[in-house]
Parts: sequence; structure tokens; C-alpha cells
Amino acid sequence: RNTGPISRPLTALREFGSRPAYTGAGMDALVAWVDEIAALTQPARIHWIDGSRAENDALLRDMVAEGKIIKLNPEWRPGSYLARSAPSDVARTEARTFIASAREEDAGPTNNWADPAEMRETLNGVFAGSMRGRTMYVVPFSMGAVGGPLSHIGVQVTDSAYAVASIGIMTRVGDAVTKLIADGAPWVKTVHSVGAPLAEGEQDVAWPCNDEKYIVHYPDTLEVWSYGSGYGGNAILAKKCFALRIASVIGRDEGWMAEHMLLIRVIDPRGKAYHVAAAFPSACGKTNLAMLRPTIPGWRVETLGDDIVWIRPGEDGRLWAINPEAGFFGVAPGTGESTNVTAVETLWGNTIFTNVALRPDGDVWWEGLTDEAPAELTDWEGNPWTPASGRPAAHPNSRFTVAASQCPQIAPDWEDAVPLDAILFGGRRATNVPLVVEATDWTHGVFLGSTISSERTAAAEGTVGELRRDPFAMLPFCGYNMADYFGHWLKIGQQSRFDRLPRIFQVNWFRRGSDGRFLWPGFGDNSRVIDWIIRRIDGEVPAVDSPIGRLPRLQDLNLFGLTMPTEDLEELFSVDPASWQHEADLTEEFYATFDGKVPAALQSELAALRYRLQKA
Ligand code: PEP
Ligand code: NA
Ligand code: MN
Repeated sequence: RNTGPISRPLTALREFGSRPAYTGAGMDALVAWVDEIAALTQPARIHWIDGSRAENDALLRDMVAEGKIIKLNPEWRPGSYLARSAPSDVARTEARTFIASAREEDAGPTNNWADPAEMRETLNGVFAGSMRGRTMYVVPFSMGAVGGPLSHIGVQVTDSAYAVASIGIMTRVGDAVTKLIADGAPWVKTVHSVGAPLAEGEQDVAWPCNDEKYIVHYPDTLEVWSYGSGYGGNAILAKKCFALRIASVIGRDEGWMAEHMLLIRVIDPRGKAYHVAAAFPSACGKTNLAMLRPTIPGWRVETLGDDIVWIRPGEDGRLWAINPEAGFFGVAPGTGESTNVTAVETLWGNTIFTNVALRPDGDVWWEGLTDEAPAELTDWEGNPWTPASGRPAAHPNSRFTVAASQCPQIAPDWEDAVPLDAILFGGRRATNVPLVVEATDWTHGVFLGSTISSERTAAAEGTVGELRRDPFAMLPFCGYNMADYFGHWLKIGQQSRFDRLPRIFQVNWFRRGSDGRFLWPGFGDNSRVIDWIIRRIDGEVPAVDSPIGRLPRLQDLNLFGLTMPTEDLEELFSVDPASWQHEADLTEEFYATFDGKVPAALQSELAALRYRLQKA
């Protein structure tokens, strides 16, 4: 068990920002690497992050003084800040994200591949002198509790104080990690520069960045190099770059899995606890499900994580999971009292907001926080705004960064590993995909995960948006060939005792009727689906076989307190063989993009699906 805040080793009482006095071969290697990066990037000074509260306070105070962030009114939002990015630096830049593996085949068709030798030359060019006039921070971080059995550590050097403050919330940083490195623990190297060197006496801007961006992963040497962007997913390298792209490669080689999933504990009215992980593409309600408040009496949900889960087979044959992060980097718009009151409560203070709107009273606002917009605001770009302005006040990808420990329903043991009972795959689908389907076995579940697709909210009611394939919700985050990744999932199943593996389900909260209405209320009522899933796990209810998997009998759904027309319920679970043959065509097309690398077991699942549909 490894909980609680990082305690600061006594040896680390040292001058602010100075290098800790640890010794040993591990420390020598770290210092040599930091020196090497400094020689390349030429920072004005180097600051070693110790992870203390005083250091964090000083960083934020300096950023306010330099006009990089705005301190919010502590009466409404204590310890909280607003950052406004450059208008061009508001999201992950997938087109500028590269997997630089030795062989192109190892990046696969879903990633941008770059030749590692050529990329190193390019990056040596852009990073040369890129930190001139700035402070280079050395940020030792741990994903998972410091020293925990499933944890991994790394170091990010960065010239962005905003990144340092964000990493301090999203991971565990400081001397305790440096001490592990000094003692010889393996660690991952990550390098970040906003690419905006300052000339002597030059005035800095609020959000320095560069039009040229590179987010580069070297899976063969376990390194990340990120240039030109200060935005979260591009700059908090421990998160998407390390904990998903690089970690997925480490997991492939070591026999575990790094997944784009939320993690919750569901407690039923008998007090029995179950652990559920779920993979949904962006904007499909992952944070909402992570913070679910069940509408059915007697049920409770404890939050463990909302974005990343590391899963490792245990000695007992079960799959054990941790949330390697320490905070939430969530999308603000759409987060409100009626959609996710837990998130709203989590954000009471100590939060860094990015690109939301500012109220005249010094608090923040975004679309969906309240039903009615305030009469006047300053928008995310710093311009005056009123409801008549005809544009959003907050950027659609505006974010909050907040410690997980602030979540009112966080599991008391949220830093520990938990055994998985169920894995859910979902997307936003107006048609075809039922509210819930149970996979017949692990292989069928992997097939379901590999076929996940999601569509944009249809602008016109009832029209079907364009489908984006997003297998396992990992499309932008898998650090190697996705067909090999499917194979890795199959292998994990083959190596495990089938009766100890989590059961796999596909869910879809977004199915619409022919009139365009959502058929399912969603949000807290999704607990009704989890109720059924848990009774399936416990063998308490039978299921109905269908060509696409096992469906609930309607009488087994807990609809207590919910009035819903029977036709809607039936439509939620209807399976149209012709439409599903078309789904199978799309899956076949998608599989074909992998040049024959998709595992035979999944091709067989596809053939078996077609056969069952034909007979239906
Ligand atoms: C990110 O962009 O850093 C991020 C967390 O992405 P997403 O919310 O799309 O997973
Ligand atoms: Na490619
Ligand atoms: Mn995510």
C-alpha cells in the first residue's frame, strides 16, 4: 500500500531550485542528461523541482506577476488561476505527433511515422538555443504512487512554468522521485520546449509557443521530445505521450496494458464492490461516468480515474488496474450542475483553468456550467463578451486541471491497484449499437474493442454523423502498430484464466429514435446499465443471444423510478441484420488498412458475425 502525499526527504532541504545533493550512478546519469539538454537548449538558468508547497506557491506567484496567468477571486475560487493560451495553441496536434520507431511498420498506418535518425537531426536543429533567456525546469515525476508496484517514473525538462504547475497537479513530482532515480530506478526521458527563446531584454508574451510543432516519441529508446506547444496534451508529457504512447510500448514488451480508460468502483446495495474500467473516445462522457452519481437507490460510485488506466495480470490470474495520474485535465464546457455535479464540486479551488471565460467578479464561467450565461464576461481570448456576441465565451476545448484528491467521491484508496470485474467499450452512435451488449468471451470482447467508432453529434436531429474509427479509444494514443496492439490484447487473454478475466461489454448512451430523440436519459441513469452488468457478472440473470452478442431481457433492467415507453426500450436494443452487415463491411475495410496484420482470431470473429447475421 502506498498512499498519502509525497514526503520530502530530509536530505532535500536545500536552496530553492538547486540540484538535490543525492549521489550515486543514477544521479550522475540524470545530471549528465540534464547537462546535455542544457548544452543544446541554452537556458538562462536551471531549476530543479523539489515538489514542495512553497515552491509551487512561488511558481504561481511569479507567473501572476509576469502576466502569464490571472489569479481568480479567492472569495469564489481560492488558490485558482486562469491561463489564456495563444489562439493557435488550444488542442493536441495529432498531425504533428510522430512515432519515430526504427521500422515504419512498427508505427503502423494509424500513426505518423518518422525516421528516428532524421527526426533527431531535425529536433537537434529546432531545440538548439530554444530555451535562451528562459528557465529550464527539471521535473522528476511518478506515474502511480511513488515507489508503487505498478508505477513508472520519468523526468521532464521544460521551459514552461505553466507546464510545471500542470505536471505538479497531474502527477507526483519532486525530490522523492529524484531519490529513486539516484538509487538506480529506471526512468523515462522527456524534453519539452515552447520554442520561443528570448533575446536579451526582450519582453515575454503571456503564452509563448511556436507555429512549428513536433510531438515526437522514440519507442525504441523510451523518449519523448515535444517542441512548440504549451497545450496540456502536447506539454504535460507524462500524460498522453508517456502514460499512453510510450507506456503502451513498454506494456507490449513487459506483458501489461496502458489504456485510455476511466476507472470506478461501483458499490451495490448489499455493499459489494466491483471495479469497472471503460474506454470511450473524447467527448463521449468518460469524465461523467468516472464521477457517476447513480439514480437507483442504494448504489454508490467511487471515482478512481477519468482518463488513463494501467492494467497488469496479477499472480491470482485477475487483471489489476491503477490510475497512474494524480489529477484531472478535463474539458470544461458541458460540465455543469445538471451533467456532472461532482466535477463542479471538485473545482471549488486549487484549480488551473485554461481558456475559459472570466466573470467580472473574478470567477470563471463556461458554456454549460449554468443554464443561463452571465450578462457580461471576458471571453477566452480576453475580449468583452455578452450573450449576444454570437460566439462561445469559453473555447470548446477549454480545460480544468485539478488534483484527484479534491473529488468528493474519490475512492479513499484511489492510489492502489484494484482487480477489474468489467471492461466497457463505448462510442457515440445514433444507430445500430444497443445500450449494452455483453461479449461472449474475451476474444469477442477484443473484437468489439477493435471496432469502436464514434460519430459527431448530428447537427440536424436524426441525421447520422460521419463515423470515426477509434479502436479501444486509443487511435491517437497507441505508440505502436494498432494491429499488433489488438494481438497484445488477445495474448493477455490467452495468458489469463478465463474465469478470472474481467467481462467485456459494449455500451452506447447515445442511440436515437427515428424522430431524432435520445432514447436513453444517460448520466446518472447509466447506473441502471451497470446494475445489469454486475448481475451478469454474478450470474444472477440470463441474457439473450443475438448475432452481435448477449443482450439483456427487458424485465431484467432496473428501471425503478424511470418512466420510459416500451417501444423506446425495444428500439434501444434492436439489431437490424442489414445495417449490421454494413457495419461488418466497414470493419472489413478498416481491418484492410493494416496490410494483413490484423490477427486471424479477429478476422474469424468478423466472419462469425457475418454468418450469425445471415442466419438471423
Ligand atoms: C489532452 O489533450 O491533453 C487530453 C487529455 O486529451 P483528451 O481529453 O482528448 O483525451
Ligand atoms: Na502513417
Ligand atoms: Mn483522454
